[in-house]
Formats: sequence, structure tokens, C-alpha cells
Amino acid sequence: MAPKIRPLIAGNWKMNGLKSAGLREARNLAKSMGKVGKAGCEVLLCPPATLLAPMREALKGSRIAIGGQDCHGKAGGAHTGDLSAPMLKDIGCAYVIVGHSERRADHGESSREIRAKAEAVHRAGLRAIICIGETAAERKRGQTLAVVGKQLAASLPKGCTAKNTVVAYEPVWAIGTGLTPTADDVAEVHGAIRARLRRRFRDEGAAMRLLYGGSVKGSNAAELMAVANVNGALVGGASLTAADFWPIVATCI
Ligand code: 13P
Repeated sequence: MAPKIRPLIAGNWKMNGLKSAGLREARNLAKSMGKVGKAGCEVLLCPPATLLAPMREALKGSRIAIGGQDCHGKAGGAHTGDLSAPMLKDIGCAYVIVGHSERRADHGESSREIRAKAEAVHRAGLRAIICIGETAAERKRGQTLAVVGKQLAASLPKGCTAKNTVVAYEPVWAIGTGLTPTADDVAEVHGAIRARLRRRFRDEGAAMRLLYGGSVKGSNAAELMAVANVNGALVGGASLTAADFWPIVATCI
């Protein structure tokens, strides 16, 4: 029998958010969360690094976790401008996103580097959200499952468990475009990811959370969250305000 998996709804603010308005949105989200009893899902905000510390303060006493959007594969050293996983842990992060398609595209990150980053996240005792997803051209060529399978094999390090790893499937063409795959398409890809995770990580792979990401909004969240093997969402644009993010969180609460 498939294990019961507690969903994760994660907001990735990307390079958005200034202190005053950003923290106000985080507090408003916490207020809405505070009104419900026991939450049925975990909620996470990944603001830009500049807001991690103040957001941690602003969310104290709430059930909203914070996470980083990237980290270096090493714990420290001469790497100007980078942040390490132990630094993110030090500031109160519970999760770190690695391998987002924007990092893969803007910074030429390979699956090999992403695996090293995920290892660094694990070594720091944090949870890695490892992103994979095909481009529009790859989907058109019918290569979706092959591309995603390859990224999965190369980006996930040994030692992934249901506790320390979350996989996020984000079709590149669905990010920030308003386009989403059909529920059947999502079911096909998530089913294939689950099968691979089971084969490689056995029971841990069966219990790992698989998030869908790419143009998730209040209006489509319930349908996407109901798809088999979808255990939550990684949300970009619609996570920036509590008004937009709360209806998505509410589908799992
Ligand atoms: P959007 O929700 O803005 O499409 O972004 C998705 C994403 O990339 C989350 O990491």
C-alpha cells in the first residue's frame, strides 16, 4: 500500500521581495495559518537570502518554515557571493531548493553540481528540494520522461530519504507562463518519477514527497493537488502575497 504522505506547499520568491512589504505578506500568511487547527500540510517560504533572517523573526511562533533558494556544494571557503548549507541552517532554514531550472539555465548548473549541492544540504542536516523538468522543445520531441529520468538519476545523491529529500517536478515551459500540463500529463510524469524513486530508494522512495511546480494558482491548485503522486506544490509568482498563496495552502489544510 502507498504510504500516507504529508504534503508540502512551498513558496519560492525567487529574486522578489523587499523588507517591509515582504515581511507583511509573511505575517499575513502566518495569521491565516494561525486560524486553522492542526495543519494537514507543511508550509514553507523561500524568500531571497536578504529576507531569511528577518522573516525567521517575523514567523516566530508560526508553523511556517523558511528555506534557501540555492547553496554552494562546499561548507565554506573562497566562493564570493555564495552561501553554504551550514549558513542557511545557522539562520534557521529547514529546507534548501537546489537545481531550479532558473539556476540550471542562468548559471549553467549541471545535474552533477546539483547533486553536490544536495549532498551539502544533507550534510548540514537540512532537507533538499531537488528540481527537475523538461523544456518545451523536449516535450515536443516526446523526450519528457527520458529527460526527467536522467535529471533525477544524476541530481539525487546516495542517501536520499523521505525525510531529507523532496523532488519538485517543474516543467520549464510552465514556469511563469500561466500554462500547466493537464492532470493526466502530471500523473504520467509523477508516476514515472515515483517508480524510479522506488526502484532506487525502496521504501524511502515510496514515501518521498513529489511536488508539482509551474503556474500553480488558487484556481488550479485543487485539481493539481488531487493528482496521484502529487504531494504538494512549489509555487513562484502566486506565493508572493498571502492573498494569492493562502488559497493554494488551503487546498491541503
Ligand atoms: P511560477 O509559479 O511563477 O510559475 O514559478 C514556479 C517555480 O518556478 C517555482 O519554483
